[in-house]
Amino acid sequence: MTEVWAVLVAAGRGERLGAGQPKAFVAFNGRPLLAESLSRLDTSEIVGNVVVVAPPGWEESAILCAEEENASNVITCVPGGDTRVDSVRAGVAEVPAEADIILIHDAARPLVTDDVIERVVEALRDDIDGAVPGLPISDTIKQAPAGLVERTVPRDGLFVVQTPQGFRAEIFRRALAEVDQTASDCAGMVEAIGGRVRVTLGDPRLAKITTEADLALVEGLARP
Ligand code: CTP
Ligand code: MG
Repeated sequence: MTEVWAVLVAAGRGERLGAGQPKAFVAFNGRPLLAESLSRLDTSEIVGNVVVVAPPGWEESAILCAEEENASNVITCVPGGDTRVDSVRAGVAEVPAEADIILIHDAARPLVTDDVIERVVEALRDDIDGAVPGLPISDTIKQAPAGLVERTVPRDGLFVVQTPQGFRAEIFRRALAEVDQTASDCAGMVEAIGGRVRVTLGDPRLAKITTEADLALVEGLARP
C-alpha cells in the first residue's frame, strides 16, 4: 500500500495579516486557524500521518491544538525556519524513509478536502513526480512591467496553483537537498531538477488567507 505523509507548514509570521500573533493561531470560525487543516488532514482517508511545522516557540501550542482536535495521526511538531522552504525542509526531515508520497500543505489554506487530496495523489501515476491542484485562470492577464501594457497573455493553459502539492518522496528529498534558490512553490524545486509535475483540478475553497479580508472571505466559504 502507498504510504502518504503530509507536512503541514504553519510556521509563518503572518505579517500581512498583522494580527500580532502567528497566522496559524488566529481565530478561524472560533478555533485556531491551524485546527481546521490539521483536523482535515488527520481524518483524511488517504493521508496516513501528519507532521506539523510550527513557528519557533509555538510547538507546544500546536501540539495542544492537535490534542484538542483528537488528531492522533499527527506524529510530531517541529519548529520552522526563516523561509517557507526552510520550514518545508524541517518538516520533511521528520518523514520516515518508508513514505512513498509526501504532501506539503499550507495552514494558510484551511479548507483542504479529501477530493483534492485524492486528485493530487491519483495524478502521481506512471512517470509523474509531482502534482499540484490548480484552477484555470478566467481573468484576462496583461503583462505591463512598468504599467504600460506590453501584451495580453493568452490564458490557455494558465493555472493558479494551490496546496496540497504532492511528490514522490525520493525526488522531493533530492530537490530539497539540491535546489537552494527560493522557488515560489515546492513544485518549482522539483521542476528545477527536471521532475515532471502535473496540474490537477484544485478547489476555489482552497483560497489562501493572506490579509484580513481573506480571513473573513474564507471563514464564509467554510460555512455550509
Ligand atoms: N510558512 C512557514 N514558514 C515560513 C513562512 C511561511 O511554514 N518561514 C508557511 C505559512 O505558515 C503558511 C504558508 O507557509 O501556511 C504560506 O505562507 P504565507 O501565506 O506567506 O504565510 P506567512 O509567511 O505567515 O504570512 P506573511 O508572508 O504575510 O508573513
Ligand atoms: Mg510569507
